[in-house]
Amino acid sequence: TQDELDQIYAFAVDLGRKAGDLLMERVEQRIDGSDAPQTFEEKENAVDIVTQTDEDVEVFIRDAIHTKYPTHKFLGEETYAKGESREYLIDAQPTWCIDPLDGTVNYTHLFPMYCVSIGFVVDNLPAIGVIYAPFQNQLFSACSGRGAWLNEKRRLPLIRNPIPPMPANAPSRCIFSCEWGKDRRDIPDGNMHRKIESFVNMAAEIGGREGKGGMVHGIRSLGSATLDLAYTAMGSFDIWWEGGCWEWDVAAGIAILLEAGGLITSANPPDDPDTASIPDMKLGSRLYLAIRPAGSSATESGRESQ
Ligand code: IPD
Repeated sequence: TQDELDQIYAFAVDLGRKAGDLLMERVEQRIDGSDAPQTFEEKENAVDIVTQTDEDVEVFIRDAIHTKYPTHKFLGEETYAKGESREYLIDAQPTWCIDPLDGTVNYTHLFPMYCVSIGFVVDNLPAIGVIYAPFQNQLFSACSGRGAWLNEKRRLPLIRNPIPPMPANAPSRCIFSCEWGKDRRDIPDGNMHRKIESFVNMAAEIGGREGKGGMVHGIRSLGSATLDLAYTAMGSFDIWWEGGCWEWDVAAGIAILLEAGGLITSANPPDDPDTASIPDMKLGSRLYLAIRPAGSSATESGRESQ
């Protein structure tokens, strides 16, 4: 019921703040030198890394959820067993989908774009999302039926006067955000050179569909897919694209983006054997394309008045 969802939402917001505070404590210890030097382990390759902080924050979140909601399923980036089947990690059961530290590479470099991401998924759809970026003191949250919020007081999208419509010739004149991902293999269907080439073409005159006017305003790579989604919900990014996401990277962000009136779709090739069996889904995809809230009609829907 909405009542139950509201209670879970309040718990998730509180948990997100506490987990972010824990993250911040670690950052401060690193800055003032009272913590041991930061080490990280490499997982699949040199850019797929995990730190002790990822693990500690996940344990903190997992324990709190188990205590409060022992029957709910838990899916966390660090708890997920390597090699475990990827298909249907999320099913109809109420499931918490957690990335304790999204933007781990940023965190190890002390680049402040990292966050805690807490998603709650019911019937395969992200119903609650809490994203907390403690260094910026930005807490994004949403619960279905309750709108999307920044720091619990400003409704998303932030630009509401009204938010300008998407340019008809998008991605022209858009801020396009994308990530490099972790798969750097030189494979025909997804190699980095092709990715880079298509990004450069969008930004440069050669890619413009109408000469100079056809260029994107800018391309951004924050290093956190979760924050990309939060900033798309905010209306700051027009379009976000990424290939190679996991459920915990996007669950919270999808809940927030949808409540803000944005759109998201999977962008898997229809003949991809790994994703072909996933029905019209929001979670379980590899490639995503998200569009910011488009105009006043989307934000002044029924949800707005609640
Ligand atoms: C990663 C970041 C990165 C994105 C990867 C994610 P992590 O998450 O969001 O920007 O490109 O797809 O897995 O490892 O920092 O939690």
